[in-house]
Amino acid sequence: MVVPTPKTLFVVPLVLATTLLGAGQDLTLPETWAAGDKEAALIAWGHTIAMQGNGLPGNTACAECHRINGGGMPSVGIPRIAGQTETYIYREIRGVQKGTRYSPYMDGIVQNLSRKDIRSVALYYSTVRTPKLHDPAEFDPSLRELGRRIARRGLWDRNIPACILCHGQNGRGIPPNFPYIAGQSKSYLMGQLLSFAIVKRKDDPEGLMRGIASKLTNREIKAVAQYFASLEPPVYGKIPEKNRPDRLRLIPDKETPNR
Ligand code: HEC
Ligand code: HEC
Repeated sequence: MVVPTPKTLFVVPLVLATTLLGAGQDLTLPETWAAGDKEAALIAWGHTIAMQGNGLPGNTACAECHRINGGGMPSVGIPRIAGQTETYIYREIRGVQKGTRYSPYMDGIVQNLSRKDIRSVALYYSTVRTPKLHDPAEFDPSLRELGRRIARRGLWDRNIPACILCHGQNGRGIPPNFPYIAGQSKSYLMGQLLSFAIVKRKDDPEGLMRGIASKLTNREIKAVAQYFASLEPPVYGKIPEKNRPDRLRLIPDKETPNR
């Protein structure tokens, strides 16, 4: 009999998840991508949606919560979305529309977005570069080592894989499908882990995150959230410089940067 090792246990779901995510049935834009001009036009439309919504009922400007530069509001747990990939942002908004991505705040706001609107606003936020914002949460130094261990090595005796297997070195994500979690606020990370654990958020392929989060104790959730919140998020965008309108670059934000 083959005794499954921690590695084999997680390679299968990992491959499955990657295939599923890679298939991206839901991710095609009505028209095919043409030249950079079209991409620039979509980014400009995405910027309009971010600034003022698309004009249809219920559609509030994303910037009211995520800010125009996508840094979010760490103090109230609104996530950073700047530089998250277009694929991931698109998937999350579609998930909110379909009710699989738990988000009481965005629920009413995104219902009137067309697929093209979503693609545009996803593209816009994927290109915005913004520094990490100050996270006012309390950090407990006694949890740091535990958070780091879970993140980097996992807790194999309880079949909990290292987070960085999927979320990349230092939590910086594995584009395009695995989101970065480094530099998100502690309260946002804790909130998401809890909602996976109690199965409110069910948009994770194959229930991977639900499986992992439900095995973590509250103390471990706190520790690992704190660890990733203390790291620097990636600051990148996938759009070539030439297609990035000047005004979209590094827009100063009122919240004070961390350092
Ligand atoms: C009223 C505030 C609010 C508005 C307006 C809003 N969001 Fe959100 N958004 C949130 C909150 C809060 C979350 C975290 C999930 C939750 O707790 O509901 C979130 C989550 C997200 C996520 C998932 C982030 C992740 O890391 O998984 C994306 C992407 C997102 N919003 C994009 C948008 C876009 C694009 C718009 C504009 C069309 C928008 N949001 C408008 C509050 C808002
Ligand atoms: C087997 C792969 C895998 C592993 C291991 C993994 N994750 Fe995830 N995680 C994902 C995927 C995929 C998503 C995106 C789910 C979705 O589509 O909403 C995700 C999403 C998340 C989110 C929500 C991100 C956001 O922006 O809303 C958090 C927080 C998170 N993971 C934390 C962790 C932590 C902490 C660990 C380690 C204890 C971990 N993950 C291990 C695959 C994984």
